[in-house]
Amino acid sequence: MRSRRQPSLTLRTTLAFALVAMLTVAGAGLYLYVSIERTVMQRSDHAVLARLDHFRKLLRYDLTLDKLESSPQLFENMLDSEEDIFIIGEPGNPPVISVNPSRAPLPQVPVVGQDQALSDADLRSGMSLEGVPLRAASVQALSGNTEVHLLAAHVMVKEMAMLASFRQRIYVAMTLAFVIAALLGYLLLRRGLRPLRRMAAHAADITPATLDSHRGRRLDSHDTPVELHQLSDAFNAMLDRLADGYQRLMQFSADLAHEIRTPVGSLMGHCQVALRQARSVDEYQALLASNLEELERISRLVESILFLARADEAQAVLERQPLDMENELQRVAGYFEGLAEERQLHIQTSGGGTLNADPILLRRALSNLVANAIRYADAGSEILVRVDSHDGEWLIQVENQGPVLAPAALTRLFDRFYRGDASRHQRSDSNGLGLAIVAAIMHLHGGRVTVAQPVAARIRFTLVFPA
Ligand SMILES: Nc1ncnc2c1ncn2[C@@H]1O[C@H](COP(=O)(O)OP(=O)(O)OP(=O)(O)O)[C@@H](O)[C@H]1O
Ligand SMILES: [Mg+2]
Repeated sequence: MRSRRQPSLTLRTTLAFALVAMLTVAGAGLYLYVSIERTVMQRSDHAVLARLDHFRKLLRYDLTLDKLESSPQLFENMLDSEEDIFIIGEPGNPPVISVNPSRAPLPQVPVVGQDQALSDADLRSGMSLEGVPLRAASVQALSGNTEVHLLAAHVMVKEMAMLASFRQRIYVAMTLAFVIAALLGYLLLRRGLRPLRRMAAHAADITPATLDSHRGRRLDSHDTPVELHQLSDAFNAMLDRLADGYQRLMQFSADLAHEIRTPVGSLMGHCQVALRQARSVDEYQALLASNLEELERISRLVESILFLARADEAQAVLERQPLDMENELQRVAGYFEGLAEERQLHIQTSGGGTLNADPILLRRALSNLVANAIRYADAGSEILVRVDSHDGEWLIQVENQGPVLAPAALTRLFDRFYRGDASRHQRSDSNGLGLAIVAAIMHLHGGRVTVAQPVAARIRFTLVFPA
């Protein structure tokens, strides 16, 4: 519970979405702003140059300086706006006309000769007292025979105001884009994520009791979007595995209870009978001996169950070693010699080589198979134990003569607690776990165990170690 909660996917995606929308609008706005700004500046520059050119011509042909001086009103009407600055004068003398209502300081400008054409390069930038940018240029002109200098400038008050209002609109558009994209994105995402919430609600509904029930408890993947198919399929597969595991666990514990109940019941029965009256020392000894036998069986049962439970916990610790198989077979045969002789059985081994396997587990698997063979083989017959390898794959076979098993019984031999024909084989020392343990050991080695009846009344178990 210490891990920090991550913000919701909806919130994060919505914010990202809104941010993208805002940046897009800002980018478009910036582009338009820059191009409009450039156009406005160009127009203002051209106006200044056009005015200078106009007056230069007027002075040369029609309008004399004297006439201008006597009627300044006429001149002022010729200007476009209050922001325009216009100064006419002879060089070295105070100006004859000076229109500069805002008293803006003027930059140093080069004077363009009277015959030279005006161009953008002749303009200079300055700043009014209010901090508004202005553009100015100056030309030389002839009025009659007098040389005069004309200076025109434009203070860009209107342009700046227009650009400022344009900027304002861009900010508003950006904010709106953010808010609208966030709202719409949120609504759309909530809709889009509905299948996920449905899945979560569905998962929350599942309990061990409802786990194994019919399809109704599985996620329906055909009304989920494609992206979630994989998830819902994996989820369903997981539920199937869990249901299967749970089912087997239930079966296992039921079998276990059943298996333990019988020997415990019999122990209790023996004790109760013995306690009904005073017994001789011999009788008590016999009782204890038989109880001990029963307890040994329970102990073996518990040990086997523990082994299987641990093997189920996935890759238990496998300690593989190169094993000399001829040696191993001899060893098992030697170990079981006494038991085999009791039933006039003969164990014959063949084959050899070096196999990489866990020695303790391999011996255990092999012993279980040989113990079965000795227990179930027809008395006086022969047990064959063979080891063989080709293409890196190893086969260990244990074969004996015994009862004919029905195909249905063959497939069940490796089930936990399965014992064959109960009337014939039910013995106090049989738990039905030996072959389940063999299968678990082979599974740990990445191999398998198979059973076959090559001819009637012969049964052959094969341990297969893959290459
Ligand atoms: N070699 C064999 N020949 C004939 N039947 C066999 C042979 N091996 C196993 N079986 C049958 O398979 C059943 C299951 O064998 P498994 O080894 O799992 O249990 P078990 O021998 O009955 O008990 P445990 O091995 O736990 O003491 C046996 O009860 C028996 O009926
Ligand atoms: Mg057995």
